[in-house]
Amino acid sequence: MNRAETFSFVNPLIRYFLFIFSFLFWVFSMLIVAIGVYAKFQKAVTVRDTFLIDPAVILIVVGVVMFFITFCGCIGALRENIRLLKTFSFSLTLVFLILLAIAVLGFFYSDQQTRGALGKFVKKAIVHYRDDLDLQNLMDYIQKEIKCCGWNKYTDWSWNLYFNCTHENPSFERCAVPYSCCTPAVINTMCGFGVQTQDYREANALIYPVGCADRAVTWIESHLLLVGGLALGLALLQV
Ligand SMILES: *[C@@H]1O[C@H](CO)[C@@H](O)[C@H](O)[C@H]1NC(C)=O
Repeated sequence: MNRAETFSFVNPLIRYFLFIFSFLFWVFSMLIVAIGVYAKFQKAVTVRDTFLIDPAVILIVVGVVMFFITFCGCIGALRENIRLLKTFSFSLTLVFLILLAIAVLGFFYSDQQTRGALGKFVKKAIVHYRDDLDLQNLMDYIQKEIKCCGWNKYTDWSWNLYFNCTHENPSFERCAVPYSCCTPAVINTMCGFGVQTQDYREANALIYPVGCADRAVTWIESHLLLVGGLALGLALLQV
């Protein structure tokens, strides 16, 4: 080969480093998509019903985006295609900024903000518990998982028309709480009936007597921190 054929605009060391690095993540992205698709078909129903966004869909979207970006880096470096390399660098910058924003939100979303947003959401979920099957499943999931009942306490179920504990309420579930409030030791599906009229000690024997607020906030915050840490790690890797 003569000089013209081996001439390169790009430092060969950087070029092959970029190629190998992109290639590894290209393969990795295909793995992520495969796992996402597998998860989607495995537990499609239960997972979709308990989370607001299906985690399998997140995996697939992240994998596909990663696939295209690393593909640009991989082929761009190999062929010295300036357009592909520019696309690669632009997308990487964009993703970097998005990850940085997520990391900052994850770390700095304060206790009060989390509590406020979550409280509003749970109140809505309690009020519309019987109108929306997704909200009902989510609320049941939260109460069983965190072992709690209501937002501040179990009498919060009065926010719901069916469970409201005023004397005028004609509903046969008046003063009840949903079955998902009941401790696993109680098999009777009507165990929540009349619980709102009982005091803390009586209720304690049948249901989880504490509200979901404190534990839910702690749970969300530990996960926000994890999300922030993951985003920061990925962003550093990109730099
Ligand atoms: C229960 O229903 C009554 C009458 O509709 C209403 O005034 C009251 O505020 C409700 N209770 C709660 C806790 O929302």
